[in-house]
Amino acid sequence: MVETLTRSTRSEREEWINQAGFNLFSLRSDQVFIDLLTDSGTGAMSDRQWSEMMLGDESYAGASSYYKMKSAIQEITGFEYFLPTHQGRAAENVLFSALVSEGDIIPGNSHFDTTKGHIEFRKASAIDCTVDEAFDTNSVAPFKGNVDLNKLEDLLKSTPPGKIPFILLTLTNNNAGGQPVSMENIRSTSMLAKKHNTLLIIDSARFAENAWFIREREQGYEKGDIRKIIREIFSYADGMTMSSKKDAIVNMGGFVALRDEKLFREASVYNIMFEGFITYGGLSGRDMNALAQGLYEGTSSDYLNARIGQVAFLGDKLSGYGIPIQQPAGGHAIFVDALQFLPHVPREEFPAQKLAVELYLEGGIRSVEIGTLLADRDPVTRENRYPALEFVRLAIPRRVYTNNHMEYVAVALKNLFDRRETIKRGFAIRYEAPIMRHFTIELEAL
Ligand SMILES: Cc1ncc(COP(=O)(O)O)c(C=O)c1O
Repeated sequence: MVETLTRSTRSEREEWINQAGFNLFSLRSDQVFIDLLTDSGTGAMSDRQWSEMMLGDESYAGASSYYKMKSAIQEITGFEYFLPTHQGRAAENVLFSALVSEGDIIPGNSHFDTTKGHIEFRKASAIDCTVDEAFDTNSVAPFKGNVDLNKLEDLLKSTPPGKIPFILLTLTNNNAGGQPVSMENIRSTSMLAKKHNTLLIIDSARFAENAWFIREREQGYEKGDIRKIIREIFSYADGMTMSSKKDAIVNMGGFVALRDEKLFREASVYNIMFEGFITYGGLSGRDMNALAQGLYEGTSSDYLNARIGQVAFLGDKLSGYGIPIQQPAGGHAIFVDALQFLPHVPREEFPAQKLAVELYLEGGIRSVEIGTLLADRDPVTRENRYPALEFVRLAIPRRVYTNNHMEYVAVALKNLFDRRETIKRGFAIRYEAPIMRHFTIELEAL
């Protein structure tokens, strides 16, 4: 799908961002020139996906579209059971309703914000056990998305039995910069889960990009077949939640997939309650068809080479200008290190948000803060939680922009970088929601 881009002047952007309370989520899309807010649901569907939409079977129960999706999921992941949902967080809602109780602990590698939200909403805790090297943006370690197995095992040993319903691995690790998790780490996490009598669930939004990195970087997988690598990844897990808006390249859709029939039956009750009947769960038949086709396209080697190659292209440009980014480039986005970029803006004035707003003013480019606003307040003390890093994420939609657009983005950031010393003050909060505040927050410029 080709769409028109709208250009604007700096003074128009100043007015719009002011009206938006300095929250980039509150801008209208036609106020944005290049939209790198998210790679979620923003991809361009292929000719084949659009053709599949014409063939959607809209029967309430047992639609052929459901069976098409089921067979794609079984073939690609190896999971026997699945439940369609309208997107990833709905898959979390359905599965966590069956698995998470008050007081539980869910360890993992940088839980995504909606995932943490669904855990904390149930008065359980998400404990981040990501490896320390993820927090050193200059380190070029190949698998900075990994879980620290020592931290994880300590937690498993010190937690009373039955309080950890599952370990959650996020592939790729979005909040650490789209950084991959190695096969070795997935395998070892699975062994720890078994040893401590708990489950391993994979938050799989970008599982295909993760498999690509395993092929490129892990010994023993060089030149391996991507689909085989994917089957091995899932062979270590008990289930998955999926936001299909990423690696299945659809604009809406998700699912839960499971190995165990009993858990599938329990989760089915919540699927019917929240999403719809178990053979459509919040999706139309045409959406399920496009999703099934997208799963095949999103796991093809040629596509992944081009996709991750484009992210690396932007990363190389920025590094060439000396701009501090999470190294090496991730799978879906470049994460700019705002603490290094804007060292004069105090942490309590949200430097990454400041940088994101400045980038919008400079070039009409919409990015997103992955920092203190996103981290929310501590649910008990209500103090701001300051994460180890403040990032501006430049998430690249799939099959949408050309490398010319990437060059424009790089130059806009370079302009800011050249005058970074002049940027000193950030924002104060005018309004915030009690949970997942970054979506609707309103700020005041200081
Ligand atoms: C790692 C990860 N998990 C879960 C989700 C939630 O998916 P959705 O936006 O489809 O609800 C996202 C969305 O960005 C994500 O990046």
